[in-house]
Amino acid sequence: MRLILYLGKGGVGKTTTSAATAVRAAELGYRTLVVSTDVAHSLADALDAPLGSLPTPLTDRLWGQEINVLDEVREHWGELRGYLSTLLRRRGVDDVAAEELAIIPGMEEVVSLLHIRRQAKTGDFDVVVVDAAPTGETVRLLTMPETFQWYAARVMDWEPTTLKAARPLVKQLMPAADMFATLERLTKGVEALRETLTDPEVSSYRLVVNPERIVIKEAQRAATYLSLFGYPIDGVVLNRVLPADAAEGSFMQELARIQQRYRQMVYDLFQPLPIWECPYYARDLAGLEDLARVGRDIFGEIDPVQVQFRGKTQEIVRDGDEYVMRLPLPHVEIGKVSMTKRGDELFIEIGNFRRDMILPLTLAERPATRAVFRNGVLEVRFGTPDTLPLDSPNGSDNAS
Ligand SMILES: Nc1ncnc2c1ncn2[C@@H]1O[C@H](COP(=O)(O)OP(=O)(O)OP(=O)(O)O)[C@@H](O)[C@H]1O
Ligand SMILES: [Mg+2]
Repeated sequence: MRLILYLGKGGVGKTTTSAATAVRAAELGYRTLVVSTDVAHSLADALDAPLGSLPTPLTDRLWGQEINVLDEVREHWGELRGYLSTLLRRRGVDDVAAEELAIIPGMEEVVSLLHIRRQAKTGDFDVVVVDAAPTGETVRLLTMPETFQWYAARVMDWEPTTLKAARPLVKQLMPAADMFATLERLTKGVEALRETLTDPEVSSYRLVVNPERIVIKEAQRAATYLSLFGYPIDGVVLNRVLPADAAEGSFMQELARIQQRYRQMVYDLFQPLPIWECPYYARDLAGLEDLARVGRDIFGEIDPVQVQFRGKTQEIVRDGDEYVMRLPLPHVEIGKVSMTKRGDELFIEIGNFRRDMILPLTLAERPATRAVFRNGVLEVRFGTPDTLPLDSPNGSDNAS
């Protein structure tokens, strides 16, 4: 079974690409499910077919589904929430705060991922293509299994003492045994989920970008987060590329020229990942026939179900209290490394090579202390987080 997940900024073409990949996969003979986890579903519009919250058959090898995450959370985990808020109140947390804290962070995300995994396992599909919400939410979704596990472990730790204090109340809500069984089952599920999601032979993450600066920056940020959490990226779809043969001096030619610059930027930033280009169509795209065409335009003779890139594009590892980021740059010649960090941006120069990187929060709050370039790999070390002077009135750090 393969799981392919598309990420990208709002409106770049994730739904179109996901649906096109699924249609192409089905054409190639795979039993394919395309599923939307975006609360604002638009998959049915792209496929031009009504979809339900269970896999809906579209052709003899293609199914579509729009998961109703909110319903599912409410239905299955409402009790859990009630129970947790009771526990928290018994620990002296006031009512409103207890209610808020009892919303396990990432519950919705975890539920939708668990759902996909279950579907993938029981549904007898060769490939599941996930049409996700825009990057921010999806990155959150992917980091949730870890957050969730941390949280669940804490809750389970309280059990012996807190439970004793809370028992009479808890009994009114639900049998504690059920409660802990639920939590344990969830934790196990989430653990298995993480394994599936980080197994490069099963799961592939693909970035969708347009030749535009902001879109590319966001994709870069997503790439950094994915590598931080060990999710394997195997390609980039460069969508909405204008034809280069517009009339001399025309508006279109000017636009195409601007695109050309960002197109180059995509190659510079994301190679050695494969980059698949998709033209800008001068018409509305909807329905299986259109999607089949888009699928062929993106992938050509490539089988989109197969893993398209193996190997690390970027690696972030913890070393004691510090972090080390490793970035393979096989095409860069040896030279002096110069590095500047500004907020969450890191500028690297090695000889003629320049890269402007977006850092995840974990690294952004730390000083970049050392950068070396050795055997085609750039290694940047991040020290312990900057601490603000306590007497600084507004937390600004402009003391020099
Ligand atoms: N290459 C293309 N040429 C022309 N139109 C396109 C192309 N790719 C996508 N579109 C159109 O752009 C609109 C947005 O695309 P799509 O819904 O796939 O983006 P999305 O990234 O899923 O958006 P959202 O973030 O809102 O989910 C749709 O109307 C789609 O048909
Ligand atoms: Mg979409």
